[in-house]
Amino acid sequence: MTQQTYVELNNGVKIPQFGLGVFLVDGDDNTENAVIEALKLGYRHIDTAHAYFNERGVGKAIKKSGIPREEIFVTSKLWPFEFGEGITYKAVEEMLKRLQLEYIDMVLLHHPMKDYVGAWKDLEKLNRDGKVKAIGISNFDKDFERLDKLLKNATIYPAVCQSECHPYQTQQKLRDALAPYKTLIEAYYPIGHGDKTLIDESIFTKLAQKYNKTNVQIILRWHIQYGNIVIPKSSNPIHIKENYDIFDFELTPEEMEEIKKLDAAKYYFLVPFEKYEEIMDSYNEKIANY
Ligand SMILES: NC(=O)c1ccc[n+]([C@@H]2O[C@H](COP(=O)([O-])OP(=O)(O)OC[C@H]3O[C@@H](n4cnc5c(N)ncnc54)[C@H](OP(=O)(O)O)[C@@H]3O)[C@@H](O)[C@H]2O)c1
Repeated sequence: MTQQTYVELNNGVKIPQFGLGVFLVDGDDNTENAVIEALKLGYRHIDTAHAYFNERGVGKAIKKSGIPREEIFVTSKLWPFEFGEGITYKAVEEMLKRLQLEYIDMVLLHHPMKDYVGAWKDLEKLNRDGKVKAIGISNFDKDFERLDKLLKNATIYPAVCQSECHPYQTQQKLRDALAPYKTLIEAYYPIGHGDKTLIDESIFTKLAQKYNKTNVQIILRWHIQYGNIVIPKSSNPIHIKENYDIFDFELTPEEMEEIKKLDAAKYYFLVPFEKYEEIMDSYNEKIANY
């Protein structure tokens, strides 16, 4: 397996372009196992969140791995009840304790809700204080007015916007809106949350045969060449290995173009925006208690 690629964020920090997402990895112990497995294979980027209930497992795996801290890029996210000036600063200090880390590589605002502008001011302070190396946002493709408001109030522009992105949803509008700020797209649901219809598209089967890869590997390779940061989730050691093995081949420009034709602006995450805040709030107590 060849080495994975790195990209530079808008503040000069380098991030491994590929990482392990741990959403829905059940509990700290399973997360610890998945992260250890990934780190052994060469993964150096882990994406978690307070709302995934497994930051402690990520922290334990990093400690156990013996890999120098500076070689691993850790991202976590804050839930909206943790947003606000003064509140967010403390919430990140709590996050550092759960992860057993002195600093976090990147913290994201998980959703464009509540006092995200106040939260952003605290993230800027945390960044200046060196407790967080890069700061970013997530799911702001749901409301461009909120994105504008954040950008207008920012003194540090988001390093990434983590959003649903896959060959059925290339996030072109978001990409265009963020280009002036050099904010990168970090793709969640990169293989459509495991959707067979996407994975089994004939173009991926054809290219998988040509390159002696799996359909999922072709999709992940597409993300890399498209310029996305990509964080597929798996707790299955076979998939963890397979997903990382995408750095020894290259799709041609024509193949990239052909895949682009699948874009249908389709979302798998379909919570209606009017109900968004109510639904997100229903998780508050459980998250606060983790
Ligand atoms: N910011 C946000 O609001 C947000 C929302 C969703 C996700 N995320 C982040 O993005 C990450 C990825 O998203 P996701 O986990 O929802 O979706 P995903 O990575 O597109 O798909 C994960 C699903 O695909 C399966 N899978 C993984 N590798 C496979 C392979 N090689 N062959 C066949 N199936 C495979 C996994 O099952 P196995 O475990 O069995 O392999 C799992 O069911 C998350 O873990 C999280 O870090 C962020």
